[in-house]
Amino acid sequence: EKGGHEYFMLKEIEEQPEALANTLRGHFVNGRIVLDEQRMSDQDLRDVDKVFVIACGSSYHAGLVAKYAIEHWCRLPVEVELASEFRYRDPVLDRDTLVVAISQSGETADTLEAVRHAREQKARVLAICNTNGAQIPRESDAVLYTHAGPEIGVASTKAFLAQIVANYLVGLALAQARGTKYPDEVAREFAELEAMPEAVSRVLTTVERVRALGRELADSKAVLFLGRHVGFPVALEGALKLKELAYMHAEGFAAGELKHGPIALIEEGLPVVVVMPSPKDNPVVHTKLVSNISEIQARGARTIVIASENDDIVRPFADHLIEIPAVPTLLQPLVSTVPLQVLAAEIARSRGYDVDKPRNLAKSVTVE
Ligand code: M6R
Repeated sequence: EKGGHEYFMLKEIEEQPEALANTLRGHFVNGRIVLDEQRMSDQDLRDVDKVFVIACGSSYHAGLVAKYAIEHWCRLPVEVELASEFRYRDPVLDRDTLVVAISQSGETADTLEAVRHAREQKARVLAICNTNGAQIPRESDAVLYTHAGPEIGVASTKAFLAQIVANYLVGLALAQARGTKYPDEVAREFAELEAMPEAVSRVLTTVERVRALGRELADSKAVLFLGRHVGFPVALEGALKLKELAYMHAEGFAAGELKHGPIALIEEGLPVVVVMPSPKDNPVVHTKLVSNISEIQARGARTIVIASENDDIVRPFADHLIEIPAVPTLLQPLVSTVPLQVLAAEIARSRGYDVDKPRNLAKSVTVE
């Protein structure tokens, strides 16, 4: 049932192209993005003047990616919050606030209670969920189901990528409702999304090489992850995967923060994973990251660089180079996350841990 794999997580990593295709299916009809179970009017969607994204764990990292897409496409302010913090401060919510609640299980207590709090304050709630008929979508005003299929591994993989795609669909739905994108622009963005399952399939051709690197890194004491722009949430996700599976100290940073403290952690041989944007699509951020890598390399770190194919600029700074397809920066988390999932799983396996059932963790966290 593991499809010939040693652990479910690897099977689920390899199912990601199909998961993304399934999430996209049926959401672009007659030239328009459509949501599932929309119980709010199109006018309500048009009236949205502020967005909160609430979620926990990996779903929170997917939410961080949503901020970049929604702000860019819709010109709406977006705040991303850990669900467990949201209702214990006093967030400013009203009927024109859209709260996007992201939950694979749809049963996470922190997220559910945050949804209830938002609805009490009259905000509208849109749920992104992988489980049909779960409690969070039942209590929401609109739903976008991710259709990634059941996820057995406790660590989220295909559900995470599907959540990111669902966020893009929410961004396009809002852009369409608000008129910040013309219909032909929405269609073009959707076509870009439709090309992503194929791009993820291409990343999967690197799995064995990344596993070999994982075996080399299995004895490390710690690993740092750096990124900028949407590469920052990817860095956070890479670090979370490593913590939960390999029980290794791992931290993700926005690379620009390095000089404000974390650079003090860099020492000889420390593995540092850096997520690069495509130099063609985002030359400004690319240049900044190259200078960050050169700083850490000069201090003896072992650099593991996730970069777009044919990125010749970064090559001299990479002790290990993992190439991914060159895709638009906003969509890059869909390809750059994949090697980090494989890396964490393989480090965990090499250390003798159960990749599918990490200690102390449950698939669905139904207590606050
Ligand atoms: O079911 P949810 O998406 O609400 O779960 C949220 C987190 O508990 C979940 O993403 C957790 O962080 C995973 N172990 C990540 O791999």
